[in-house]
Amino acid sequence: MAIAFLNGDWMQPHEAKVSVFDRGFMFGDGVYEVMPVYGGRVFTLTEHVTRLQRSLSEIRLTTTYTDESWAQLINDAVSRAGEPEALVYLQVTRGVAEERSHVYPDAPPTVLITVTPAAARAHAPKPLNVVTKTDFRWHRADIKVTSLIANGLIKNGALAEGFDDAILVRGDEVTEGTASNVFIVTSGVIKTPPKSNHLLHGITRDLVVALAGEAGLPVEECRLGERDVLSADEVWLTSTGLEVYPVGAVNGQSVGNGEAGVVWAKMDQIFQAKKTAFRAAVEEA
Ligand code: PDD
Repeated sequence: MAIAFLNGDWMQPHEAKVSVFDRGFMFGDGVYEVMPVYGGRVFTLTEHVTRLQRSLSEIRLTTTYTDESWAQLINDAVSRAGEPEALVYLQVTRGVAEERSHVYPDAPPTVLITVTPAAARAHAPKPLNVVTKTDFRWHRADIKVTSLIANGLIKNGALAEGFDDAILVRGDEVTEGTASNVFIVTSGVIKTPPKSNHLLHGITRDLVVALAGEAGLPVEECRLGERDVLSADEVWLTSTGLEVYPVGAVNGQSVGNGEAGVVWAKMDQIFQAKKTAFRAAVEEA
């Protein structure tokens, strides 16, 4: 059953209502997280809470929540929902202020959490057909802000041109996808752009880098140009929803033979094994 938490109350998601004076509505002034639930528990919860607290701190939004109380609230939401496979959406805005002013109000933040059932990702996903686009977003793409106008414009521009998604390029550097991080494989080496203020520090990205390292697969965090992506043997997108997802074509040119690559298959197997181990640990607990 889907469930929502709004400022201390529990309800059905469609019952959750906020004021039109909410700073999230008026200014897009908020941050968020999307977390996966496997086997009825949040996967990588600590990492998501740490990133949430960092986002809040970067936008100077103070709450009374500690890492522990966020984790407790999120776990409570997931238990109440009782869904084994779900997505948790958590949003914090700067609260409600009737006077429309750029000056921050002295208002309690608005805290919304929804837990909704999620279908498992396809076992053999169809490789994506992506296009490179100019990354014209602001210089703080490392903060997970709810204002996603640029991401939406770029994604929908790509869809209108018949692509599935876009890979963003700022100057001569690849940053990330519209809602994902980018990996390439060249001569057997897995590569992803280093963390910076121009891309979200994806939890899935970090996990893939760590898991690849543990498995002894060569992995490098290094700057990538558009040409690196166009000439790569494999291209992947990673995110909470996509997990590790193959790209079959960039700018109308096939990546490899256009099918999911062998390194992707290995990485996906490692990632799925991690999820299976997590579910097993939940069952044992
Ligand atoms: N998006 N980059 C951007 C711009 C994103 O929006 C996301 C995630 C990622 C991947 O982060 P993670 O691995 O922590 O999910 C990278 C979420 C899922 C969304 O907006 O729905």
